[in-house]
Amino acid sequence: MSQKTTKDIRSAKGKEKIAMLTAYDYPTASILDEAGIDILLVGDSLGNVILGYPNTLRVTLEMMIHHTQAVVRGTKNALVVADMPFGTYQASTAQAVGNASRLLSEGHAHAIKLEGGKIMAETVKRLVDVGIPVMGHIGLTPQSIHEFGGYFMHGKTHPEAERLMEDAMALEKAGAFCLVLECVEPELAKHITQHSSIPTIGIGSGEACDGQVLVTHDLLNFTTHKVPKFVKQNANLRSVISESVMSYIKGVKEEK
Ligand code: KIV
Repeated sequence: MSQKTTKDIRSAKGKEKIAMLTAYDYPTASILDEAGIDILLVGDSLGNVILGYPNTLRVTLEMMIHHTQAVVRGTKNALVVADMPFGTYQASTAQAVGNASRLLSEGHAHAIKLEGGKIMAETVKRLVDVGIPVMGHIGLTPQSIHEFGGYFMHGKTHPEAERLMEDAMALEKAGAFCLVLECVEPELAKHITQHSSIPTIGIGSGEACDGQVLVTHDLLNFTTHKVPKFVKQNANLRSVISESVMSYIKGVKEEK
């Protein structure tokens, strides 16, 4: 197998579903990569999943570079996409180009992901023009949590659905190679998927998307938090780790 490119991901649309998971460290990246994952996302979910923050807002570019480097070292085949953290791309296209470049040149990511629709289209176009592949992300965009006031489904009303459709089209036109739809009403996610020429990757947005993404720690129950309802967990690492550690402690205590 050779390293996947954004071109491979684009051309999977309509042919093969795309599987994407998050990774933040070397061993997880190696295991997921060997298992055959298409895309590894170094998500800014790093903040809540790994660093114990309440949300993604405190994640810095330095943190993202550090964790992206580790993920890339563990990856041979998957495309590695790194999230642009909150406040590192919204101020201007120059700011976005400068910081996205660092994720590629210092973090060694293959592409970046940023949140926002129409409002980010000009930035996406500039990034793509200077050679930085961009994955879009619309619907529930966790960096806007204080604006939204909570985590809920998006695109339920007609105006909201129209806005999301326009966002998707604007990102596609700007040159994004792929689009994450997070917590988008499944019928709307299906409609966007059918009307866009780039792959959609859903999370909590139904099964009609061109691919799916989950936070790996949610999938494997390697977390102490409640996971979203749409996650179908297929392992319970929390209890595997806990039982193994209890057995280790017992063994140590019983040593003569
Ligand atoms: O940061 C992240 O993990 C994400 C995915 C949930 C899409 O953006």
